[in-house]
Amino acid sequence: MTQEPEATTILVVDDNEANRALARHTLEDEGYRVVVAADGAAAIAAFEREPPDCVLLDVRMHGLDGFATFERLRALPGGVEVPIAFLTALRDVETFDRAARLGGADFLTKPVQPAELVLRVQAMLKLRRLSAELRDHYEELKRQRDALQRLQLQKERLTAFIVHDLKNPVSSMDLHAQFLLRERGLPEPAREAAAQIRADAAQLLRMISNLLDVSRADEGLLAPRRAAVELSALAARVAVELDAQAKAREVSIAAALEPLTVDADEALLHRILSNLVDNAIRHAPAGTSVRVSASRDDAEGVTIRVEDDGGGVPAELAERIFDPFVQVDAVDRKGARAGHGLGLAFCRAAAVAHGGRAWLEPSGRGACFCVSLP
Ligand SMILES: Nc1ncnc2c1ncn2[C@@H]1O[C@H](COP(=O)(O)OP(=O)(O)OP(=O)(O)O)[C@@H](O)[C@H]1O
Ligand SMILES: [Mg+2]
Repeated sequence: MTQEPEATTILVVDDNEANRALARHTLEDEGYRVVVAADGAAAIAAFEREPPDCVLLDVRMHGLDGFATFERLRALPGGVEVPIAFLTALRDVETFDRAARLGGADFLTKPVQPAELVLRVQAMLKLRRLSAELRDHYEELKRQRDALQRLQLQKERLTAFIVHDLKNPVSSMDLHAQFLLRERGLPEPAREAAAQIRADAAQLLRMISNLLDVSRADEGLLAPRRAAVELSALAARVAVELDAQAKAREVSIAAALEPLTVDADEALLHRILSNLVDNAIRHAPAGTSVRVSASRDDAEGVTIRVEDDGGGVPAELAERIFDPFVQVDAVDRKGARAGHGLGLAFCRAAAVAHGGRAWLEPSGRGACFCVSLP
């Protein structure tokens, strides 16, 4: 007993004209009858005039907001049976919790993809027709879905916190250390301390950025901004940036590449190199060198290699170390606690986002990490 879309009325309540038009076109294309209302009062009038089968309700509106409108609609005759979904650009946990507490049938965050809007409306309409037993099952599923959606919103908040509240003070620490280093009469111990602050700040920024991009990649949101990048210049820059760290471990960096231009996201490529060279420095024995090289061929495009003469990685772990938070040994050869196992996960995610790949090449000695970019 499926209900024909033509017999089905959807009430769309939104004070934004463009949003109303988009929802209307999307749902009318599916054959639904769509009634629109530009505010809460108009929604109540429309609901009484032509009782809908489903309501899409914007949360933030002038006059009666979505929550107040929801309660008024629920109090109308037939108002309890009609599924009402909240639609909002507010991606915070508080708004979500309030919507869930009130009993919203669904919670959609803008921008909503047309295909998703149709699916969610279909699901709500189907639910209305289910038997009581199936409805119980659905309620359970909905509880689980809500819990997942809440977690997702919490994760977004955490990500936003990392970007703004952690990155900014770390960048500012670095700027202050640079300021100290420009001071002419600065005693050598203070100069060393300032240089150490700069190295630590760079390390922290690298980890924050990795965490951020690994989580972006999980959501398919890591999009490279491509441009022509001169690889040899970039490798030389990374060698300079990591020089102090290499010296502290008595390791040298050999990164003199032939000129080679790649079509890639410079910032991402920069961090791929920094992560691989940073790993190599931390594993290379004193007195050895970390070697960066690159070659172009038809099959892989450009392949970048970072090699060292350290202990390498056991063959059985060669794939697993590219997973987030996987470390062979969290303590490096100097007994210092290394990072968190996000560097290689980032490198792989960034390579894949470019359409390339990242892998560990079996080699006789040490480790040889490769990244290819088509
Ligand atoms: N050049 C290398 N030689 C030997 N082992 C390596 C090398 N590079 C990485 N590994 C191993 O792979 C693990 C994962 O590396 P990854 O860069 O992802 O994390 P990390 O360096 O431990 O921490 P992070 O990069 O997040 O600061 C390392 O913990 C280490 O065990
Ligand atoms: Mg690392």
